[in-house]
Amino acid sequence: MKKCVIGKSINKAKKLLDADELVAIPTETVYGLAANAYHTEAVLKLFQVKNRPTFDPLIVHASDIDKIYDFTSAFPVNAQKLAEHFWPGPLTLLLPKKKNIPDLVTAGSKLVGVRIPHHQLTLSLLDKLDYPLAAPSANPFGYISPTEPLHVSTQLGNSISYILDGGHCTIGIESTIVGFDQNEILIYRLGGIPIEEIENRLQKKVILFTNDTKSPNAPGMLASHYAPRKKFTLGSIDRIIETYPTTKIGVLNFCSYKKNIPASNQLILSYRKDTIEAASNLFSFLRKLDESDVDIIIGELVPEEGLGRAINDRLRRAAHTT
Ligand code: TXA
Ligand code: MG
Repeated sequence: MKKCVIGKSINKAKKLLDADELVAIPTETVYGLAANAYHTEAVLKLFQVKNRPTFDPLIVHASDIDKIYDFTSAFPVNAQKLAEHFWPGPLTLLLPKKKNIPDLVTAGSKLVGVRIPHHQLTLSLLDKLDYPLAAPSANPFGYISPTEPLHVSTQLGNSISYILDGGHCTIGIESTIVGFDQNEILIYRLGGIPIEEIENRLQKKVILFTNDTKSPNAPGMLASHYAPRKKFTLGSIDRIIETYPTTKIGVLNFCSYKKNIPASNQLILSYRKDTIEAASNLFSFLRKLDESDVDIIIGELVPEEGLGRAINDRLRRAAHTT
């Protein structure tokens, strides 16, 4: 069992990563669990610690575009336009990989997901490394993503020795993943950059490619994901009140309280109906309810626009039961 330290030392993080160890790193979206993306042995540890199936590929992080050229072989014009505008930021681009990225990172795909995260501490760390970092979200596979160092240490503290402390993640929801096919723009995962902004930038409609499926052919887009341990459901509360005592029902609301449930069991994502604020609270509030003394949690969908789409995507996956 490892003794896990939470700290702000870039040098300590670098030393561990240089030795093929794992380090949790802050980003603006969620905390990542990082390893040298060029070393298969280091990357293998990510899958083991997260208990993640190897058909689910990893995103590779770098501090600038020049470094991304080291491990990608093409950069389509539309990808360049998005990179120029949204990086550093919550955007992952799928680009053809070079041989220096092991197949384990991409689950055998010829494309690698790349991103420049918007977090000063992690950018400074990446800048000092002569390799990029493969980093999935720093949670056990399928569970709620971490947005604070304590979320990481609670769940993975026995298996990793260092968490780089960058405070609370400002965006709070994972990056938007975009792929390119001929002239088409494919959205593989809704996330921190709303699709409206991508369409505006490229003056082109995107294609949503985020179909729910259990098939490994759509890696990482499993219908059930981001899930709390407690039963989590969406929809009408009336049905639940018939079955559970009201003191045992937790509620994740968008902007107002539900009647008949104790207020102490309810969390509000954004009183002012702001989906940006709601996204930044989503995972930590879901986690709080999961750790509270309730038997069931009920959530409600938010307006399906801007970041609301990504929030609803996470809520639907968290509620998926089969
Ligand atoms: O915001 C984020 O993207 C965070 C932070 C840490 O950067 N990372 C993250 O990683 O969410 P993870 O491993 O939890 O989710 C990565 C997902 C995969 O599940 C898969 O859906 C998609 O990215 N992905 C990665 N590489 C891919 C590839 N080559 N082809 C298709 N999908 C890919
Ligand atoms: Mg994840």
